Amino acid sequence: MSFILAIDTSCDETSVAVTQGRVVLSNIIASQAQIHQAYGGVFPTLAKQAHRDNLPAAVHSALVRARVSWTNISAIAVTQGPGLAPALEVGIAYAKQLAVLHNKPLLAINHIEAHALSPLALPRARQEQREQARGSANWPILSLVISGGHSEFILIEKIGHYRKLGYTIDDAAGECLDKVGRLLSLGYPAGPLLEQFAKQGRTGRFVFPKAMQDQANFNLSYSGLKTFARNQIQQLEANQQLDRQTVFDFACDLQQAVFNQITYKLERILLSPDLTQAAYPSRHFLKHLTSATTPITPINEVWLGGGVAANIALRRQLRTTLRKYANLSGKQLPLRVPYHKRLCGDNAAMIGVVAGFKYQRQEFATPSSLERRPNLSLDVIH
Ligand code: KG4
Ligand code: ZN
Repeated sequence: MSFILAIDTSCDETSVAVTQGRVVLSNIIASQAQIHQAYGGVFPTLAKQAHRDNLPAAVHSALVRARVSWTNISAIAVTQGPGLAPALEVGIAYAKQLAVLHNKPLLAINHIEAHALSPLALPRARQEQREQARGSANWPILSLVISGGHSEFILIEKIGHYRKLGYTIDDAAGECLDKVGRLLSLGYPAGPLLEQFAKQGRTGRFVFPKAMQDQANFNLSYSGLKTFARNQIQQLEANQQLDRQTVFDFACDLQQAVFNQITYKLERILLSPDLTQAAYPSRHFLKHLTSATTPITPINEVWLGGGVAANIALRRQLRTTLRKYANLSGKQLPLRVPYHKRLCGDNAAMIGVVAGFKYQRQEFATPSSLERRPNLSLDVIH
């Protein structure tokens, strides 16, 4: 099977991987978090320079760690979008350069498709598990891509066939956590730290507003939560009440409010018989729901990808929702997550996995017309 060298420079991680089909042979991630800490977010010019500096060594390390040489590589894959324009540009330019130098074809990859399919990635070691897992996806699958740039519900009918069922109309879940974390001076990105703080917090002290519940669609919105959080923090600061335990309690309720919105809409999707907003389950319908009236969803599995997918509390909340649905409907839906946290956040291994499928279909990019697509969406790729 073909070896792919994959590059992702969509935001603030410079990542290069070598994959073989779904198997990850190496996955180098040079994080820029330190560089952007001081700015409370990603600073585009610095990101661009750091990608330029990091790429050559990352490519070398990816090949060495995979124990593969350039002669074995069948194609070079690179993230085309969505992402930060100056950052994408560096990865694409470098991929083109390598393609000419080593005479390899290029594959242009959609970053959201890669997050959505990231649960398919397999570790190198477990050959037996690999054999068992082959072809095991039970379509259609509902993919939740929850990251710093995206929060989307995507129906995967099969590889290459996607339908976006819902998305955030403003901030992404990770973005909301990062922005509130910034107000609490937690540095960037704040999501992982908020998860740790939340473990030490008590629930119920802060009642965050519930968003989008009256809208008959599968969309999310986080700007209201963010504004509420800002006002609360200002008030606590003014009253000198922002002590350690208060920050822990705040993190606990904030995180739960962010995730509640996801599980609320997930439940609605599962209870919508044909997955269209026209068949959105009304409050009245839900109130009188019994096992006899619960619609059986056509969805067979739920997958989770994106940086926030690393969060254990989110996984737990999603599993609770799926269990509740199974109790009502009798249909069990497994939750599949990437095999390692490194596959949740931005990484090139997930790019390589998607590239493996594209390589099989011989869907190569033309170098002269391959350009960055900062606003690329999943609907437009096929
Ligand atoms: O997928 P990703 O690396 O980049 C985008 O494509 O956006 O996601 C980064 C996001 C950040 O917002 C970060 O705070 C969040 O993922 N994140 C987490 C955790 N780890 C990363 N959020 C909550 N809990 C975590 N453990
Ligand atoms: Zn991402």
